[in-house]
Amino acid sequence: MSLRPILIHPDPRLKKVADPVTEVTPELRRLADDMLETMYDAPGIGLAAPQVGQSVRLIVMDCMKKEGEAPRPMALFNPEVTWSSDERSVYEEGCLSIPEVYNDIERPAEVKVRWLSPEGAVQEEHFKGLWATCVQHEIDHLNGRLFIDYLSPLKRQLITRKMEKLKRDRARA
Ligand code: NI
Repeated sequence: MSLRPILIHPDPRLKKVADPVTEVTPELRRLADDMLETMYDAPGIGLAAPQVGQSVRLIVMDCMKKEGEAPRPMALFNPEVTWSSDERSVYEEGCLSIPEVYNDIERPAEVKVRWLSPEGAVQEEHFKGLWATCVQHEIDHLNGRLFIDYLSPLKRQLITRKMEKLKRDRARA
């Protein structure tokens, strides 16, 4: 396994609609393992393939972040929301591609998601709480959508400028 560099917004690769996976190959399983390692290292609770420059419909996540909870690493290929609740909830979201920026985002409180496992099996699960927020945030990445796209254009512009500066500073360092 190896760590992959995480792209920072703004980057055209974060705005692209990712390609569906037709078959879970050993190479894609390796990508999922690398993404999980990269996510835990960051540290984060979710990561989507476009964030490491791969235009494929793959997300990884683990929202077991309370102390004493066993980890639950998940890799979801071609994840699709099949149902979302009318009830909505607000979470303060962040993103590994938009470091140090956090904003309240409102989304459906619960969702059902169907996906292909690394073994190629169809799975479906009903997600609630932080898991529901996380899986929706990550699926958005596969459609070229970032959580700041839910904010006002002005707010988004301010954040984008901040990230451009961060990238310039990092390039200079
Ligand atoms: Ni994100």
